[in-house]
Amino acid sequence: MLRHDVVIVGAGLAGLRAAVTLGDLPGVDVAIISKLHPLRSHSGAAEGGINAALTPDDRWEDHMYDTVKGSDYVSDQDAVEVMCREAPAEVYWLEHAGTLFNRADDGTLAIRNFGGAGRPRTAFVADITGHALLHTLYEQTVARGVKVYEEWFVTELVVENEQVKGLVALDVMTGELHQVAAKAVIMATGGYGRVYHGRTTNAWSSTGDGMAAAYRAGVPLADMEFVQFHPTTLKSNGVLLTEGNRGEGGYLLNSLGERFMSKYTPTKMELGPRDMVSRAEIIEINEGRGVDGCVLLDIRHLGEAKIMERLPGTRELSMHFAGVDPVYEPIPVRPGQHYAMGGVRTDLNGVTVVKGLYAAGECACVSVHGANRLGANSLLDTLIFGRRSAEHAYEYVKNVPPPEASESYLQREEDRTRAMLGREGTESIAQIRNEMGLEMADNMGVFRTPEQMQHAVSAIRELKERVKDAPVQDKGRIFNTDLTGALEIENMLELAEVISVGALARTESRGAHSRLDFPDRDDVNWLKHTLAFRGEGGPRLEYGPVTITRFQPEERKY
Ligand code: FUM
Repeated sequence: MLRHDVVIVGAGLAGLRAAVTLGDLPGVDVAIISKLHPLRSHSGAAEGGINAALTPDDRWEDHMYDTVKGSDYVSDQDAVEVMCREAPAEVYWLEHAGTLFNRADDGTLAIRNFGGAGRPRTAFVADITGHALLHTLYEQTVARGVKVYEEWFVTELVVENEQVKGLVALDVMTGELHQVAAKAVIMATGGYGRVYHGRTTNAWSSTGDGMAAAYRAGVPLADMEFVQFHPTTLKSNGVLLTEGNRGEGGYLLNSLGERFMSKYTPTKMELGPRDMVSRAEIIEINEGRGVDGCVLLDIRHLGEAKIMERLPGTRELSMHFAGVDPVYEPIPVRPGQHYAMGGVRTDLNGVTVVKGLYAAGECACVSVHGANRLGANSLLDTLIFGRRSAEHAYEYVKNVPPPEASESYLQREEDRTRAMLGREGTESIAQIRNEMGLEMADNMGVFRTPEQMQHAVSAIRELKERVKDAPVQDKGRIFNTDLTGALEIENMLELAEVISVGALARTESRGAHSRLDFPDRDDVNWLKHTLAFRGEGGPRLEYGPVTITRFQPEERKY
C-alpha cells in the first residue's frame, strides 16, 4: 500500500496552493493525486481576475460587504471576513512567486472593474488570469518536489469510525487500482459543471468527483441548489467570455440596440451581479428582444488596441467559435452554467465532519459565496482556503498515528470496476450524459418552476436507474476513458439529484435560485444553509444556521 501523511486530491489552484503550503513545512510527506496533468486543471480556464482590496481607497471591509450582499446574505460572514482580510497578502504572494499581473502606468498592479463590486478591485493577467496563476503554482509545486500522481482517478475515500484513512485510486495509464493510506486528505477537485453537459463553461473534467466521494463518505453537501449562470457564454459550446469585457466597459444590447441593464441594475448597468444580469438576459430573450436566443456583448468601442492588450482571449474565442470578430461586430451571448456555490460543507479551515478530511476550492462550501458568487472571488477562494486547509492539516497529522485500514477497500473498488466492465445492457453512457445535461439546463436553470424542478428530480432518478444498465464499451484496462466516464456519470447523477431536491425544497428566491412561484427572498424561513446527507432513497435534507457578524440582511439593489 502507498503511504503519505497528506494526500491532496486535485491539482487546480486550491490543490496546488495546499501543496505549496505543505511543501514549505518540515517533516510532512505530501502527495497530489489528480485525474489530469496539473496544468490541464479547469482553474486554467478562469479568465477575468482575482479580487483584493489593493488600492488606497479600498478596504477589505468593503470587499466583505460587497461579497455578503452579492451572496444574498446566505454566506457565512466569518468566512467571508477571513477571505477578504487575507486577500491582499495572497495576491502579493502570487506576484512575488512569479505571476506577471498587468500593471498600471505607475507600476502598481492594474485593477479592473467586475460585477457587484462597489469599486474596481480585480487584479488580472489580461483575460488568462487562471492560466497564469496555475503556471505560477505548478512551478512552485515542482520547486518543492511534491510528488504528483498524474492521471490517477480517485474512486473512493477510505473512512472508518468517521476518520479518513486514505483513498483508492485508479491509475488510468495502467488500469491498476491502488489503495493509498493517508492521515489527512484534502479534496480540491473543483466543480460539477458537466452536470449541465453542453450548456456550461466548465471543462469536460469538471464532474464533481470529489464532492460525490465526500458525500458517499457521509459528509453533507451544502447549498447545492445555488448554481451560478454566467451571463456571457457562447451559444455554440458554452465557452466563457470574461466578465472583464464588461469590466473594461463593454455593453449588453438587446435586438432593439438598447443597453437593457438600465432597467434591471441601473446604478451598475452591465456590472450588476451575475444572478441579476443572467435573469435580465433571459427576460429580454423571452419577451422577444433577443437575437437568435441570445443578447449581444458589444466591445467595439473599446478599440482594437485595448481589446488586444486586455481581452485577447475574448477575440480569439469569438472568432473561432462564433465566427465573429468583436473588434468589428457584437458577440451573441447567453447565460450558461459556470460555478457551484454549493459543495462539501467545511469550516473556515477546510475541516469537514470526517476527521482528517478537508475540502477547498469550488468543491467546498465554506461558505463565502452564499447564493451568488461575485466574479473574481473564486480564484481568491481557492487560494485562501487551499492554504488554510493545508495549514490545519499540517497540525492535525502531527498527532495522528499512521493509519491502519484493511485492504478490503481496494478489493471493493476492484469488484466495482470489474462489475462496470462486465455490464452488458443496452443503455448508453453518452446518451445518459446528454439527457442529464439537457434536463438540468432546461429545468434547473436561471428561472425555476415547481413543475420543472419536480421533472428534474424524477428524470435524474430515472437516469440513475438506467445507468446501472449502461455498459462500458472498452473492456480493456489501459487508459480506459470509457471506464472513467462511467465513474464520472455516476458521480454527476448523484450531484444532479442533490441540486434538484435541494432546489425543490427551498421555497423562496435567493441569489441564483430564482423560483417563479416564490419570487421573493424569505429571511424568516430560509435564511439558512441546506445540508444534504446521502440516504438510501436519495438525499436527506437538514438545515443549518448562517453566521452573521457585521452586515444584517437588507434588500439587494444595484
Ligand atoms: O468572467 C470571468 O472572467 C470569470 C471569473 C470568475 O468566475 O470568477
